[in-house]
Amino acid sequence: MIFAANFKTNHTRESTKKYIEALLAKIIAKKEEDKVYIFPPATALDRYEGDFVLGAQNAYMTQNGAFTGEIGLQQLEEFDIKTILIGHSERRQFLGESQMFIADKFAYFQSCGFEIIYCIGEPLEVRQEGRESVMNFLLSQLEGIDISYEKLIVAYEPVWAIGTGRSATSQEIAFTHQALKKIIQKPLLYGGSVKPENSEEIVSINGVDGLLVGSASLEAESFAKIIIG
Ligand code: PGA
Repeated sequence: MIFAANFKTNHTRESTKKYIEALLAKIIAKKEEDKVYIFPPATALDRYEGDFVLGAQNAYMTQNGAFTGEIGLQQLEEFDIKTILIGHSERRQFLGESQMFIADKFAYFQSCGFEIIYCIGEPLEVRQEGRESVMNFLLSQLEGIDISYEKLIVAYEPVWAIGTGRSATSQEIAFTHQALKKIIQKPLLYGGSVKPENSEEIVSINGVDGLLVGSASLEAESFAKIIIG
């Protein structure tokens, strides 16, 4: 299983360091095959020791240059970061990233050999239209994306389940994951209000290869419970 923590705009450099120390102490007995990823904010990227992968929540498709407010490859290379989240719904929604822009970013980081956790997920109005609309919407979010990329991990995160406390039901997750698996033969994570109380059930669903966790990953104790089960 893959367990990924997305801190979003939370934590500082100092608190991230403490978090990682606390987390690693708590997950010392994790299953060897389980993989842990941590995506702190850009200001907390650093060199950390331990059995986990540090990734960037975002970066611009450039080595360096004049892109005010962005970070590029040069800033990630300083810490040997080779993993990135692309397509998160908050970047699509609040930062205005279009599918075309996202596909370009994907192609760039693919050409740099990054491991990419690529996020897709439908808004509530699409979910309310039924399963066919959901699948069409998710397929539209794969436009321009090389789904055969060997270092691709996909995260299905229904937008209405993110940060709302309302996770998708096991049936909804099972159906969507199994439908996606027919199209993409890559590890497939679920995200959206995952917490220690529901994580065990979600990882047991056929077609779920791991979890992308926001709010419930912010405390080391809570994320450790999700990993250890
Ligand atoms: P959440 O966020 O766990 O707070 O719902 C998940 C995500 O956006 O990756």
